[in-house]
Amino acid sequence: VEQAKKGEYPHFMLKEIFEQPAAFERCLTGRLYNGKVVLEELKPFEEKFRNIERIIFLGCGTSWHASLIASYLVEGLCEIPARAEYAAEFRYREPVVNENCLVIVVSQSGETADTLAALREAKKRGAFVLGLCNVEGSTIARESDAVVFTRAGPEIGVASTKAFTTQLALLSVFSIYLASLKGKLGIREEKFVKELRVLSSKMRLSLEQAEAVKDVAEKYWEKENALYLGRGLNYPIALEGALKLKEISYLHAEGMPAAEMKHGPIALVDMEMPVIFIAVKDPTYRKVLSNIEEVKARAGKVIAVAVEGDNEIKDFADSVIYVAETIPLFQPLLTVLPLQLLAYYIAEKRGCDIDKPRNLAKSVTVE
Ligand code: M6R
Repeated sequence: VEQAKKGEYPHFMLKEIFEQPAAFERCLTGRLYNGKVVLEELKPFEEKFRNIERIIFLGCGTSWHASLIASYLVEGLCEIPARAEYAAEFRYREPVVNENCLVIVVSQSGETADTLAALREAKKRGAFVLGLCNVEGSTIARESDAVVFTRAGPEIGVASTKAFTTQLALLSVFSIYLASLKGKLGIREEKFVKELRVLSSKMRLSLEQAEAVKDVAEKYWEKENALYLGRGLNYPIALEGALKLKEISYLHAEGMPAAEMKHGPIALVDMEMPVIFIAVKDPTYRKVLSNIEEVKARAGKVIAVAVEGDNEIKDFADSVIYVAETIPLFQPLLTVLPLQLLAYYIAEKRGCDIDKPRNLAKSVTVE
């Protein structure tokens, strides 16, 4: 009941953004034990999972963004092909799936019509379907062959925030679990689990930057467009940041891989264009810095999301928002936080109806 009230917050979205560390902890409760990931509800299917040769993630919107990150994680950790597909596209082509293909259906509500139809299509074609939902008792949860719940609690704001980070948390944990079942992790599992245990406090630290994010919003809220750029695991975060801005502030925003900018979108850059870069210390960092220089050379305004302690970035960006540093695998759980806040504060300045944006419903139950 408490979670369904706004309490001291002016909007559910803001409350749900700040609830994320607690939701993350709830999601992982009982799922980390003795340096290992434990997914009790999946025990009966372990033999099946060990023999899985391919994974397809299906979802829509924000759930598809979480799926895209998961496809990178699974492929990297389990060394099997994985991809993420829009649920609405999957059902209208001729996808090749068989009994060695695991289809993971990602949905907060468990009622999205496109995702449900894709689930039914995958089952018809012989795939084993694992549902990853927030709402217990939902149709997708009931129709999946196995299900894991994110335990985000009720999400009232139309813009998905804690549902996304708990999806990411559970998908990360699942990737580690599967890689471990397949014997691919060795001592790395203990290191991952150790980091997962401190991640909620790093989320809290990152949310403490809210005032810095507000300052950026004050500077840019009147612009009509924005670009969001990231690489690797932070490319889907760029997509998610852009989606948040579009849906609650009605501004035009595009997310893309930072290196793709030079293949066309750079033509949009001028002094009116804020460009939000996710520039964390991973192997692509220096490449991202040179992408930032390309934007600066065209008078674009650069806002960088960087990791604490990175002073070099200040020489490149007009504004810097810091998040805590973690291992690259989990960094998206932190880089998304200031982007949610940025969309929120911009929408607030623009006087938008944040919890109920126009033309949108919390759950899209029609095709
Ligand atoms: O309930 P679902 O996760 O299946 O919903 C899918 C999308 O409609 C949803 O993630 C939507 O994109 C978000 N509200 C965006 O914030």
